[in-house]
Amino acid sequence: MNASSAVATRGASVTPEPSGTAARLIYRHTLPIRIMHWINVIALTLMLFSGLQIFNAHPYLYWGNRSDQGTAWLAMDAHQDAAGNLVGTTRIGQHQVNSTGVLGVSKGSDGTPVARGFPSWLTVPSAGWLAMGRRWHFFFAWVFVLNGLCYISYSIARRHLQRDMWPTRADWRGIGRSILDHIRFRHPHGAEALRYNILQRLAYLTVIFIFGVGIVLMGLAMSPRMDAVLSPLVEAVGGRQSARSIHFIVAWAFVAFVLIHVFEVLISGVFNQLRGMITGYYKVDAVVPEPVEPAVPADPVVAEPAPIAEDPRHE
Ligand code: HEM
Repeated sequence: MNASSAVATRGASVTPEPSGTAARLIYRHTLPIRIMHWINVIALTLMLFSGLQIFNAHPYLYWGNRSDQGTAWLAMDAHQDAAGNLVGTTRIGQHQVNSTGVLGVSKGSDGTPVARGFPSWLTVPSAGWLAMGRRWHFFFAWVFVLNGLCYISYSIARRHLQRDMWPTRADWRGIGRSILDHIRFRHPHGAEALRYNILQRLAYLTVIFIFGVGIVLMGLAMSPRMDAVLSPLVEAVGGRQSARSIHFIVAWAFVAFVLIHVFEVLISGVFNQLRGMITGYYKVDAVVPEPVEPAVPADPVVAEPAPIAEDPRHE
């Protein structure tokens, strides 16, 4: 809170300053959105880490339908150097780097180097138990799918998607300014902070409808039982190995989104943002007009508590 602001909480009195800014708490995110958001965070995190455990069973990715030796476009390998030490390498296409300690070779539970794609601190439920990794992955995949379907249905029914996420013409016109604001780390604080800007809208829509739908479809396309139903899709992407590669790439696209998303939360007022997504209430600064001198001196008046506003535009 800055020096010239006043806090408005439920039932508490407010002491407005003569002029400057005052803070208001706005009910911004409804309970279902908040619950679904945090379920999604847990499901995605566990899906990523159990997915890496499954990947470790064969840390190579191919394109097409076949997985012939030497044809992988991504490979995490281990070999011994002249001194007998285990060396981990990661190759993407023709480019290979020494990734010992993280990819290809990392420390096992007893501290000695072990040949393994991703390190054990990035895999759940254990360092290398394929069957259990698959169980975890499929369980949280169902949580993610059902939660996502509830989120999309709820957002359409409550017009959250149409009102708060779908870009308006004015949003498109302001895209240049929004990009500049992001580059300069400038974030709105007043009422403007209540609506998602164009870049946020595009990011959320991409994550929900391209990454979310894409990763689920590619996961299903890899499943032998879904082959018959999804064979046109498998063919369209070039085969089951391509589906596995796309699934892996989209998983890391999710990670990139989350890193940027959390970075934006951190730099745009982490406490306020988290309070918004946990309790629903978000603080905005509102401009308080200069006091007008009364013509006749009045009796002192006790300031009314500022109401907690409902923001009709935002779920
Ligand atoms: C620890 C990780 C995360 C934190 C701290 C976090 C925090 C937040 C916060 C504070 C907001 C509100 C932003 C605003 O109102 O301007 C938000 C919204 C959102 N977040 Fe996250 N988030 C996290 C992870 C994720 C993940 C993993 C996803 C999905 C891939 C995600 C997707 C979204 C979406 C789609 C919204 C918009 C929700 C809506 O209004 O319907 N978040 N997040």
